[in-house]
Amino acid sequence: MKEQIDLLSQEVFSFSSNKEEEIESWRVKMLGKKGTITALFNQFREMSPDLKREWGKPLNALKVAAQEKINSLKINLESNDSAASGLDLSRPANFSNLGSRHPVNLVKNEIVGIFKRIGFNLSEGPEVEDDWHNFSALNFPEEHPARDMQDTFFVGKEPDWALRTHTSSVQVRVMENQKPPIRTISPGRVFRNEAISARSHCFFHQIEGLYIDEGVSFADLKQTLLFFAQEFFGPDTKIRLRPSYFPFTEPSAEMDVYWGLNNERDYRMTKGTGWLEVLGCGMVDPNVLENNGIDSTKYSGYAFGIGVERIALHRFQIPDIRLLFENDLNFLDQFKAAY
Ligand code: DAH
Repeated sequence: MKEQIDLLSQEVFSFSSNKEEEIESWRVKMLGKKGTITALFNQFREMSPDLKREWGKPLNALKVAAQEKINSLKINLESNDSAASGLDLSRPANFSNLGSRHPVNLVKNEIVGIFKRIGFNLSEGPEVEDDWHNFSALNFPEEHPARDMQDTFFVGKEPDWALRTHTSSVQVRVMENQKPPIRTISPGRVFRNEAISARSHCFFHQIEGLYIDEGVSFADLKQTLLFFAQEFFGPDTKIRLRPSYFPFTEPSAEMDVYWGLNNERDYRMTKGTGWLEVLGCGMVDPNVLENNGIDSTKYSGYAFGIGVERIALHRFQIPDIRLLFENDLNFLDQFKAAY
């Protein structure tokens, strides 16, 4: 035993290599299942307690030495590797071209964040919708002129399928699947068959809000929207609600925030009024509740739909909505520092 241990200790001491395969095969030769050191351990197991006492320590020391040798050779290997590939850790890092969030997403995320803080959850629906979810369930009767308020892209020959013209369709899907109380916002892309210009595009983004519970009133709607406006535009922001018409709300309103009239640009943006139109809203029409199986004598609710691009254009002073969808990096790069 002594001889073998001495011999192997010699070998452990003198072995060296800077090749990974060599180190590995040496490890197998020494410590593998059929390795020489392993074989000594097998002998050791058969020994009498006296002999075990004698050889236990030196045998273990041999094994540890072999293990350490392997580890240190492997570590050398790695550091040699990096030296060989010319890595210079003291050099400044390479400039990496980080992307940035799209201005529409920046605004969307901020708005979603505000409503999440007051207990709204998030819901989504499909961009290709059927007539029921986009129109009929929302109290747009067939052949009703209100359908012309939103020029529709139909999909295929079936008039039943279309690209959704508003995120109000998600309201319907939520009401179908959930029981009141409902408190949800639904961001998403919508499509309208409209001429593209500096002010309007054939697709854009909306954020829909829906709140249904017992005893929800217009005052709740107004207070929630005021909270949103002051969170988003600043604590002194004023809002006004103008009467309006949507088939799915009664009464309906449009909300403006006071932007100011400090320069020529403000005049242009607000058409000389100082007020900026931000969203449509109203109390959910009882017909819509009933269409979706919600008892309108027990529950009431409010809804609103925010136009994301319009807000993004104002927030970032972008003169033309088309810039948002051209994916010109010179334009998009400017929003790196926005948030
Ligand atoms: N869907 C409307 C539109 O696209 C916006 C809207 C108005 C949504 C009033 C609502 C609402 O939920 O209550 O013009």
